[in-house]
Amino acid sequence: MSLSIHYWWNLFRLFLTTPSAQDWEDFYRAIPAGQIPWEPRQISPWIKSQLAAGYLKSPVLDVGCGFGVHSRWLADAGYQVTGVDLSAFAINRARESTGHRNNPEYQVVDVRSMPFDDRCFNTIIDRGTYHHQGRHKITYLRELRRVIQSGGHLILLAFSSRFPNPRRVTPRELEKNTHGLFKLEATGQEIHIQPDGLKIPLLTARLTAI
Ligand SMILES: C[S@@+](CC[C@H](N)C(=O)[O-])C[C@H]1O[C@@H](n2cnc3c(N)ncnc32)[C@H](O)[C@@H]1O
Repeated sequence: MSLSIHYWWNLFRLFLTTPSAQDWEDFYRAIPAGQIPWEPRQISPWIKSQLAAGYLKSPVLDVGCGFGVHSRWLADAGYQVTGVDLSAFAINRARESTGHRNNPEYQVVDVRSMPFDDRCFNTIIDRGTYHHQGRHKITYLRELRRVIQSGGHLILLAFSSRFPNPRRVTPRELEKNTHGLFKLEATGQEIHIQPDGLKIPLLTARLTAI
């Protein structure tokens, strides 16, 4: 698949600064379905393994849910799921794909300031959202901690340090930024294959709310 200058420019804009809601919205509107680089073709093996090992408990919050692929999968598996994203376009697409037995609830929300009660979720899924928070990472993590029950799990995927880009995340960084909020329990790696075939190594992590 050959990708246009238009595609690269829109992708580059997301990496120039901490992207705003408008930057995400513009990207989703500009890039045709099937070319969104992070759109999962399969359910994350990490999320699957954490479910199989019993680390996921309802209610689940999917932060930066995009088109809701993982929210939907978890709802189909019987979980009570809320998916939130900054982009109204992404949330509308997620809502269009409902009609299943047990639909997730979707809302346009900034994760850094959520309209949810303290400790109202038992699990949080973050596939590719934390690493885009720039200087707001601590605010973001504090807000995650506010809405999750003590002992609940944050299942996270982020660009790994094996992928040389400014947004890469190391276990050390995670440990430092989540100090006093979450305990880093496990880390690993998985590969995301983009629609253009590029293989992106992701850091996988499970953290427990203190
Ligand atoms: C790399 S995409 C991943 C989407 C989805 N998790 C997936 O795996 O397909 C990151 C998503 O996070 C959303 N996002 C980024 N910062 C956010 C924030 N502060 N609050 C809510 N959503 C955010 C973006 O709009 C985008 O949909």
